[in-house]
Amino acid sequence: MNPDLTVDIAGLKMKNPVMVASGTFGYGQEYAQLIDLNLLGAIVTKGITLAPRLGNPPPRIVETPCGMLNAIGLENVGVEKFIKEKLPYLRQFDTLVLANIAGKTVEEYVELARKLNGLVDGLEINISCPNVAKGGLEFGQDPALTYEVVSQVRQVTRLPLIAKLSPNVTDIKVIAKSAVDAGIDAISLINTILGMAIDVNTRKPVLANVTGGLSGPAIKPIALRMVVEVARVVKVPIIGQGGIMNALDAVEFIIAGATAVAVGTANFVDPQTSLKIIEGIEDYFIKNNIGNIAQLRGTLQV
Ligand SMILES: Cc1cc2nc3c(=O)[nH]c(=O)nc-3n(C[C@H](O)[C@H](O)[C@H](O)COP(=O)(O)O)c2cc1C
Repeated sequence: MNPDLTVDIAGLKMKNPVMVASGTFGYGQEYAQLIDLNLLGAIVTKGITLAPRLGNPPPRIVETPCGMLNAIGLENVGVEKFIKEKLPYLRQFDTLVLANIAGKTVEEYVELARKLNGLVDGLEINISCPNVAKGGLEFGQDPALTYEVVSQVRQVTRLPLIAKLSPNVTDIKVIAKSAVDAGIDAISLINTILGMAIDVNTRKPVLANVTGGLSGPAIKPIALRMVVEVARVVKVPIIGQGGIMNALDAVEFIIAGATAVAVGTANFVDPQTSLKIIEGIEDYFIKNNIGNIAQLRGTLQV
């Protein structure tokens, strides 16, 4: 019998545990030319803000050993245009759509949640963007602010709520517990890690924004460590991400305690990666006689 790859994250019934990570898949249109979106467990949109944003000036992406730095700065079409023009397109596909939302203030997060209520399958509250001057990371680095954002958003929507946490903190467990106390349904771990690159000829930072967020295989060990830490202290499902390039990387995250995974930077290397990962997880399950995700999740032997 084929293994059962379905997972349920706070009522989000995913056909498999593989999502595409926010900001690495646009609004799906370009990727639909390259892969069958119907096969994905879920699509997480680029971070959406109330007003459209142009993002930071270029250069805003640079390749680094085993990863990349980005300082996109939340370029997006804004929530109104997203609802009118981008969402109907995504809705044609038989996959879940999660909107990643970002605000400069608690009120902005609340307003975004109100506007998207009933239109998407769930909200990923981005309190971890390292590339904006106001909002983003500042919420995800302070347990009290994390509580404030999550509890206020919780009051205006019944949609499943996921908090996207930042690794740029001293103790990720404290932030995760705060999000859970405030009523979060699931936790995404991790967003990018603050870093920078320097041009030795000009002696200037490569990125116009000076710093950027590091992603890709370079951050996988950090992401895994954080998933293990958080899984030990909270009961809500975890969506593991950070450097997942193949099925066995995804399997590591499930063993660490994740219920689902998200594929980010790997989409830029090979747009087929997420589909290959779904197949590879199934192969691993068959070879190891595993019937479903719950049988593997959190089975780390220490
Ligand atoms: C170019 C780029 C843009 C991103 N934009 C967002 C974003 O808008 N919102 C967000 O929550 N995360 C964003 N992320 C973070 C990813 O969703 C993901 O959490 C992170 O890159 C780690 O996974 P990876 O190593 O597989 O890329 C972005 C990452 C990259 C590389």
